[in-house]
Amino acid sequence: MSDEFLDKLTVYTQTLAVPRRREWDTPELKQGEALFTQFGCSACHVKSLKTGDHPLPELRNQTIHPLTDLLLHDMGPGLADGRPDHQAGPSEWRTPPLWGLGMIPMANQHEHLLHDGRARGPAEAILWHGGEAEGAKEAFSECSGSGPGGAGGVSAVAVGESCDPGAEGAPRR
Ligand code: HEC
Repeated sequence: MSDEFLDKLTVYTQTLAVPRRREWDTPELKQGEALFTQFGCSACHVKSLKTGDHPLPELRNQTIHPLTDLLLHDMGPGLADGRPDHQAGPSEWRTPPLWGLGMIPMANQHEHLLHDGRARGPAEAILWHGGEAEGAKEAFSECSGSGPGGAGGVSAVAVGESCDPGAEGAPRR
């Protein structure tokens, strides 16, 4: 591949628009967003980042909402692949962005999540969280009384049901 082609490809991918936020003004989404914060998800899947200096003015000093901190986290033994990669230890993974998550089934014709695609949808992905995300995972699974291993939490987020913040397993962040 020539340098010129690579440069063009880079600019093209850098300037592709992210999926537009949908149904952002519904009570369901607002409640789901509150639960996301309440569970402690936003400690890593941070809501807003500001881009820095960039040769392209369109990308310079922009506030974006990718739902990632772009950092490595120890996600516990359940997600470890036993293989360090550069600066990442065997159980460390970089927080993936969650923007556009809802479009994955339509765009990809599947919903295999996490680094090796083992999770079938968001609920399973969350239930694989451990290590630094153990508290958030527990808060999520215990929400709505779904109990460990249940998927009630994600349905609650999806439909915007509220969970009792004082309930056992609620986040303490
Ligand atoms: C300690 C940081 C941390 C916290 C807290 C956290 N996550 Fe994550 N999340 C990650 C990392 C790192 C991955 C990638 C793990 C992998 O690929 O194996 C991930 C992956 C995901 C994925 C799969 C995305 C994909 O594209 O594969 C979803 C969905 C998700 N998280 C949702 C949540 C929700 C909802 C919560 C709160 C209940 C939460 N996360 C809390 C760090 C965190």
